[in-house]
Amino acid sequence: PTLGRLLRARLETLIPHSYGRLADLARRFREPVKKRFKTMSQRRHFWEDIIEGPVAEMVYSNRDAEAEQALQKAIEQAGSEQLAKGEVYLVGAGPGDPDLLTFRALRLMQMADVVLYDRLVSPQILDLVRREAEQIYVGKKRAYHAVRQEEINQLLVDLAKQGKRVLRLKGGDPFIFGRGGEEISGLADEGIPFQVVPGVTAAAGCASYAGIPLTHRDYAQSVMFVTGQLKDGTVDLQWQALAQPRQTVVVYMGLAGLEIICNKLIEHGVSPDMQAALVQQGTTVSQRVFTGTLSNLSQLVSEHEVRAPTLLIIGEVVQLHERFGWYQPTADS
Ligand SMILES: C[S@@+](CC[C@H](N)C(=O)[O-])C[C@H]1O[C@@H](n2cnc3c(N)ncnc32)[C@H](O)[C@@H]1O
Repeated sequence: PTLGRLLRARLETLIPHSYGRLADLARRFREPVKKRFKTMSQRRHFWEDIIEGPVAEMVYSNRDAEAEQALQKAIEQAGSEQLAKGEVYLVGAGPGDPDLLTFRALRLMQMADVVLYDRLVSPQILDLVRREAEQIYVGKKRAYHAVRQEEINQLLVDLAKQGKRVLRLKGGDPFIFGRGGEEISGLADEGIPFQVVPGVTAAAGCASYAGIPLTHRDYAQSVMFVTGQLKDGTVDLQWQALAQPRQTVVVYMGLAGLEIICNKLIEHGVSPDMQAALVQQGTTVSQRVFTGTLSNLSQLVSEHEVRAPTLLIIGEVVQLHERFGWYQPTADS
């Protein structure tokens, strides 16, 4: 019975809440489809495409009128090349642990014809993408295969125009230091349908798995997410705003500029003894957490050979890690 209950829960997660509305739509179009397709097998194929394709996705994302039009068009154009209309899914894959994917992310991953992924998407997550989907690595760290941002943006447009369901899988959340805005800009200009699926951003994932509440009534009433790396490679932040008391500062991509960041904060009035944490590969089985202070953090990096992806958390809340650090992955977990 326990296994049965677990399986039932698992199945329910795969069935979107708006399935009822999709069923209603399908019911209304039953007769026209019957008229248009003479054999049972033609009808089955048609409905499979609809239920697993963009029309269903439109319903799930509350675009019912658009879905109805698309279904009407699909019936009229059935058999012609026009039927296949591409769509792009910009999906946040979270910080690493596959359990942190959203239901919607998982569903779209199972529907994709082609997936564009980068360095931060873990192999375990990639494993959950539809087996038949073509995989294109567009990461920026492998020198010989680096694909420029403009090329990625163009690739999304081109693949969608070929009628493909394109999954753009990104680490964390696409709209938090993820260039999501840049990637959908070309799609918006070209009128290509797309949807954006939020993911657990590194700050939320790393903080939870390191047992560091980003806000806490006793220590921090606000939290700031900043990037330690600007487009031109410099670190130029609003130091005064970051140096405010009772605030947690989370720095993405902060390793390269770590020393500058710590020194600037101290210069702007933060105590050199202010606690700070480095969370490397947060939420994964390789997670490592190091805590120290603004004055000795750089030393910790070289001592422990801390490498990207690492998130920097600065603030009094960091002291809670010692009591709340619940996630202790073992080598074989
Ligand atoms: C280009 S940003 C992408 C952020 C992503 N869009 C998000 O919402 O998490 C990459 C930086 O995010 C942080 N990061 C992403 N995943 C991480 C993880 N699992 N552990 C620690 N830091 C991570 C690191 O600071 C890394 O350099």
